[in-house]
Amino acid sequence: MRTELNVNETELLGWAREAASQAYCPYSDFPVGACVLTEHGRFTGCNIENASYGLAICAERVALFKAVSEGATSILSLAVSCAKAGEQDPPGSKMPCGACRQAMSEFMSEDALVIVDGVGVWQVKELLPQAFKLNESRFLK
Ligand code: THU
Repeated sequence: MRTELNVNETELLGWAREAASQAYCPYSDFPVGACVLTEHGRFTGCNIENASYGLAICAERVALFKAVSEGATSILSLAVSCAKAGEQDPPGSKMPCGACRQAMSEFMSEDALVIVDGVGVWQVKELLPQAFKLNESRFLK
């Protein structure tokens, strides 16, 4: 993990912050935005909740699934921002959830970078060591 961001990482994080403004989160009031950088450009996502609470989807997976559904095969980095998390809030309240880490490990290479607003930058393999994978994934090739 490192805490200094380069110019491109800072820019991607800016798009993630912007994407949080589209969050549909009336139940948690916890808006999250994400942005992935791919060979086809950027794709943003926000968290989208439902009155049937278990249907909520995180910002990171919305961004990843948008990219995959548009044909991206090379997802180079992902930035995520929990818009209402403050500087004093614990780092864990700003980190990607376990389900999103599994989705990252499916669609991103293990040394691709994940930029977490207010916390730092990790490689996918650091966020989910020993990830579950099947050889069938075309993203591994
Ligand atoms: N959330 C995300 O969008 N990403 C994460 O990695 C963690 C949680 C969302 C889901 C839910 O809408 C709200 O934050 C509170 O859990």
